[in-house]
Amino acid sequence: MSDLFSKFDPLIQQREDLLSTGLTDPFNLVMEKVESPTVAICNGRRTILLGTYNYMGMTFDPDVVAAGKKALDEYGSGTTGSRVLNGTYAGHKAVEDALKDFYAMDHAMVFSTGYQANLGIISTIAGKDDYIILDIDSHASIYDGCALGNAQIVPFRHNDVEALEKRLKRVPEGAGKLVVLEGVYSMLGDIAPLKEMVAISKANGAMVLVDEAHSMGFIGENGRGVAEAQGIIDDVDFIIGTFSKSVGTVGGFCVSNHPKFEILRLVCRPYVFTASLPPSVVATAATSIRKLMDGADKRAHLWENSKRLHAGLRQLGFQLGTDEPQSAIIAVIMPDLETGAAMWEALLKEGLYVNLARPPATPANMTLLRCSLCAEHSGDQVEEILGMFAAAGRATGCI
Ligand SMILES: Cc1ncc(COP(=O)(O)O)c(C=O)c1O
Repeated sequence: MSDLFSKFDPLIQQREDLLSTGLTDPFNLVMEKVESPTVAICNGRRTILLGTYNYMGMTFDPDVVAAGKKALDEYGSGTTGSRVLNGTYAGHKAVEDALKDFYAMDHAMVFSTGYQANLGIISTIAGKDDYIILDIDSHASIYDGCALGNAQIVPFRHNDVEALEKRLKRVPEGAGKLVVLEGVYSMLGDIAPLKEMVAISKANGAMVLVDEAHSMGFIGENGRGVAEAQGIIDDVDFIIGTFSKSVGTVGGFCVSNHPKFEILRLVCRPYVFTASLPPSVVATAATSIRKLMDGADKRAHLWENSKRLHAGLRQLGFQLGTDEPQSAIIAVIMPDLETGAAMWEALLKEGLYVNLARPPATPANMTLLRCSLCAEHSGDQVEEILGMFAAAGRATGCI
């Protein structure tokens, strides 16, 4: 019998080599207690959280928590069914209404995760004879959606407008075309030139889907994302998003103005063949989304945090993923996995949690320490974080 696990041997070896040095496992950290959106207890120590996607700090918002508790009492712990059978409660309709209001769009469809939203929408609208033209650095859920639908995949160089145009022009005449882009790319924290890309896509007869997972709530005047910030949200056919980042819970969605959008509820397999979100989750999401509509002050503070951290890390001598802060994600580029892991552990010992990211999740084989800021980080916390980076950087020889 051939061992189907033998393909993982190189990864198992790499992991064993890394952990044999006595390193704490960076991919198995336990949060023993979570005190707030920005502080948890890890290994018995107070730790500042700088690696969550809790951009707007909604996880402990009193109204959000109260809405979840009320729904748990009134509707129970779960729906035990698909949205198309017994799994659509008043709360599912309420969260879809909140999304329609938030984005000022006609239709909203909620999935159990953002991963499933990409999987479902992409695979359902772009099938076997269609073409999907996508940024090569797209999220795994986008690639998996392409694979599930069996469309022809045409990747183009990251954020390269000319490359997108060239690929679009090579698609056979008359074929269905879907361009898939992200507002913020989560590894380096850079934003897409959506204005140019959407215009070129439309000029070449393509529909456009933008995944705004890392921009919702924060970027754009109303927090609708990069498409709003660049003034082209009405030209985007489908926006994908998640509740697992700025909204502060779990779930995914697609919003659209397409007149036939509602038919997707009957033909989209990752929507039909899975249980719907628990009532407490949709209640927290709806409350959070409605509060995010009035989040201008939080958005302004988050920009301040992002700018201060970016400038401070640069001053310390770290190499960063972008020249200017473009989002709430600041990526610190490490020379290799070993140094990255050592720096990650040194930061943890200082009392700071960041994300260690490595290939294949990262572009160009990079090892990154990904820092994601929260609107609830105080100015003092950001200074404390910079002090920790200075100490850990010197201890590991990174600076
Ligand atoms: C760009 C992008 N899209 C989709 C997702 C999936 O979101 P979820 O956590 O809701 O499955 C992620 C998650 O990290 C993401 O970064």
